[in-house]
Amino acid sequence: MNGKVYQRAEIVDFWAMVFNPSTMDRLIHVWLGAFILGAFFVMSISAWYLLKGRHLEFARRSFTGGLLLATVSSLAQLLSGHSNARMVSEYQPAKLAAMEGIYETENSTGLYILGWPDDESETVKYGIEIPGMLSFLVHDNFKTPVPGFDQLEETWGRPPVWITFQAYHLMIAIGMTFIGSTLLACWFWWRGTLFDQRWLLWYFVFAVILAFVANEAGWVAAEVGRQPWIVYPSLVNGELTGGLRTSAGLSEAVRAEQVLGSIIFFGLIYFLLFVLWVTLLHQKITHGPDIDDVDNSGEYPSMKKAFE
Ligand code: HEM
Repeated sequence: MNGKVYQRAEIVDFWAMVFNPSTMDRLIHVWLGAFILGAFFVMSISAWYLLKGRHLEFARRSFTGGLLLATVSSLAQLLSGHSNARMVSEYQPAKLAAMEGIYETENSTGLYILGWPDDESETVKYGIEIPGMLSFLVHDNFKTPVPGFDQLEETWGRPPVWITFQAYHLMIAIGMTFIGSTLLACWFWWRGTLFDQRWLLWYFVFAVILAFVANEAGWVAAEVGRQPWIVYPSLVNGELTGGLRTSAGLSEAVRAEQVLGSIIFFGLIYFLLFVLWVTLLHQKITHGPDIDDVDNSGEYPSMKKAFE
């Protein structure tokens, strides 16, 4: 061997692993992310039909249903995200420092709306910041500092800050855009003019892409932000316990070429599945719903029955 110390994580308590402190928070957040994606997907296709004047009654109903789910889920996602961030501040403090670009601990910690973390100067360049806001979100007051890398790095290490920060901020920016746009659409719906807003329908045709991006960005923020740990340790009596560093988690049995080969192979399979999915989806969207669209403006007999 090359003298490197390899370690391996072993599960000693299955339920403690399944219900670790972050499980419920993360599960709920990912579920809501899936609801949002599903709802935006339905709205995208429905908005397309509405803009093209096809299957109008069907599209109005499915768009309204999708909008309801998207609005509730987007609002809930903000609450769930907040709860996640508090959980991260407790159990993975270096991840929060990377998400928010905190290099230096200050008396009161601000929240960046956007910025450009620079590891060399250890500052966030071109940052737009709400003073004291992160302290408030984490500790319910503006005066308690949120620790930065000057206090954390020696114990916890430092994840790649730029990627974690940008992925995290992208996810939140998309989440806030969803809240704003779904509430606006609900307001137009309440006034009875939703389906006249062609510009908003065009936005919803494409917004589904943002829902994909938000889910991926959240995942990148969570997984890049957990580095340099594969298994995140806990701090017990000032000592790190139970952690496994990514660098120590290398397999002795699997060689780098085999990992690369398997990534290429899986990449290919997923690419083929993606092509198949897009082809089938295109066929389904062009075909439209199976129920007869009587005259493009009236009710469907069978739909009407279903909603009576
Ligand atoms: C609206 C504001 C939002 C806030 C404050 C927020 C907050 C967070 C936080 C703190 C994490 C890290 C959790 C961890 O590392 O354990 C996270 C991860 C994640 N977020 Fe968000 N989020 C928001 C919006 C969204 C939206 C709109 C989506 C998708 C539509 C989304 C999808 C995800 C996903 C998929 C993860 C990764 C979860 C995991 O791997 O466990 N988030 N979010």
